[in-house]
Amino acid sequence: MITVALPKGALLKDSIRLLQAIGLDFSAFLEVGNRQLQITDPTNTARALLVRNSDVSVYVEYGQAQLGVVGYDVLREKSANVAQLVDLGFGQCRMSVAVKASSPYRSSLELPLNGRVASKFVRCAHDYFQSLDLPVEIIPLYGSVELGPITGMSEAIVDLVATGNTLRENGLIEIDVLFQSTARLIAHPLSYRLDTDGLYNCVEQIRKQVSQPVAT
Ligand code: PRP
Repeated sequence: MITVALPKGALLKDSIRLLQAIGLDFSAFLEVGNRQLQITDPTNTARALLVRNSDVSVYVEYGQAQLGVVGYDVLREKSANVAQLVDLGFGQCRMSVAVKASSPYRSSLELPLNGRVASKFVRCAHDYFQSLDLPVEIIPLYGSVELGPITGMSEAIVDLVATGNTLRENGLIEIDVLFQSTARLIAHPLSYRLDTDGLYNCVEQIRKQVSQPVAT
């Protein structure tokens, strides 16, 4: 039986809809009050695990799940040893540098040497500023990073922007984009290569679904 790791949060609904389109029903995860973390599809052909976005690649890398759905942003931050198979198209957002609108900075290169940058994406932020050859101090946070510049703890943040509402409502502006992100289908490399439990066919069905989305 194939096991797929699904991310809690913003990507869950679209992930479940995609799997439903290939005949796998994990919609029980969306029922209010359901606290189950593992369910089997009613046809008994696949199982799904409900995990934190940042843990999807861990379950897939260790082989407890053969497939997973995860944001490219998280994949890049974790740099896990998994096969990246399909760009699923949903969950569009971008990784950006933002500062207080009232600050003088209008590009990353204008930030002060050894300035502070708060982020949940420490590796992405580190790699980006290193590629600019701009030494900065990265301050790791777990959320609400917009408070970094607001409170004066940091000059800038590196964070995800989707609608831009969070930045706007907190008086911040984007000054640079590191990369664009969407949800990706990932697989345990060896299981995929060996086509364990009909994995290859399952991936092909998903691939077809993504290239010919059903009208909603
Ligand atoms: C993410 C991100 C931004 C926000 C961007 O936070 O870190 O804060 O969403 O979305 P927007 O551009 O549509 O406003 P999340 O919801 O994961 O909360 P967190 O900061 O507490 O982790």
